Amino acid sequence: MDDLDSLTNSLLAEIGRADSAAALEELRIAALGKKGTITGLVKTLGAMDAEERKVKGAAFNAAKDRIAAALDARRAEIAARELDARLAFERVDVTLPVRAEAQGRIHPVSQVTEEVIAIFAHMGFTLAEGPDVEDDWHNFTALNIPPDHPARQMHDTFYLQDDKAAAAPAGAGAGGNRPALLLRTHTSPVQIRHMQANRPPYRIIAPGRVYRSDSDMTHTPMFHQVEGLVIDRDIHMGHLKGCLEEFLRAIFGIPDLRYRLRPSHFPFTEPSAEMDIGCSRKGGVLKLGEGDDWLEILGCGMVHPRVLEYAGVDSNQWQGFAFGLGIDRIAMLKYGIPDLRAFFEADVRWLRHYGFAPLDVPTLSAGLNR
Ligand code: DAH
Repeated sequence: MDDLDSLTNSLLAEIGRADSAAALEELRIAALGKKGTITGLVKTLGAMDAEERKVKGAAFNAAKDRIAAALDARRAEIAARELDARLAFERVDVTLPVRAEAQGRIHPVSQVTEEVIAIFAHMGFTLAEGPDVEDDWHNFTALNIPPDHPARQMHDTFYLQDDKAAAAPAGAGAGGNRPALLLRTHTSPVQIRHMQANRPPYRIIAPGRVYRSDSDMTHTPMFHQVEGLVIDRDIHMGHLKGCLEEFLRAIFGIPDLRYRLRPSHFPFTEPSAEMDIGCSRKGGVLKLGEGDDWLEILGCGMVHPRVLEYAGVDSNQWQGFAFGLGIDRIAMLKYGIPDLRAFFEADVRWLRHYGFAPLDVPTLSAGLNR
């Protein structure tokens, strides 16, 4: 029995000293494996008489159990220690600032969108959104563009498969009662969705992607707009003028930027206007805020009462203005980017040149025009 005790004790001591899973496995094989020391002792049972076998058998089993338990315990200790070491080694301090060498750049469209949001947020506007896949009713009809209105042709609409037939003026039956689905041609349907889902007054902007089947230097099939909507009990053209003047001067960083409101036509506003900003085109170079030339920058007007009624708003109690402008165009003008198509080519060199540092989040306090 002494042999067994001393063997067991020396094995337990070795197990206690083992410092890796591999070393433990070697010890297990040396003790309990087919040719292990303990296994060797167990094999001597065969030559014993029944009485002795009973006593020693029980002792061997007890020793085996102790060794197996010691192996398990030590294995768990080693695993815990290895995990601790790994956690310490891979520790990330999330409070550290972003490394200066970070390579990512913010796309000019994202940057200008954030700038526009910062300016209007400062004026108390909140953000609204709508779906890119719109139905014919929200994109056109509810904006006072009935099925046979020529503006529908002008929008070069992308219809979803088979939906053009459903949208055809005479073909009310062709698409059944299902509204034709399309890619929204402007952000104006967000006005309708927001008014349907909320009670007046409203003061929102809605930036987003819009789609038209058109492509050249200054047109891409997908581009970006921001829609604005302000509805209250006594909002008038003076508010529209002041709000947009404030916006244009802030976004271009030109405090005395000249502008004019020019009469125009949109089905969803009455009266409608376009806003131009002062510029010079001397020598073919466009300069904002100089000279005596004009550049068209946005569409706007007083929301047509019919649009309010379509959206479920009582036009005898509520009135206000809306506007829409192209984000990509603002980015081109503000940052001197000549070709719109490059915006969407995902060329890393272009992005490195025209993109913005990730931490340059536009805020009015820090300045938008760095
Ligand atoms: N939806 C128009 C377009 O895409 C832009 C626009 C003009 C929006 C006047 C408006 C507005 O809200 O009042 O061409």
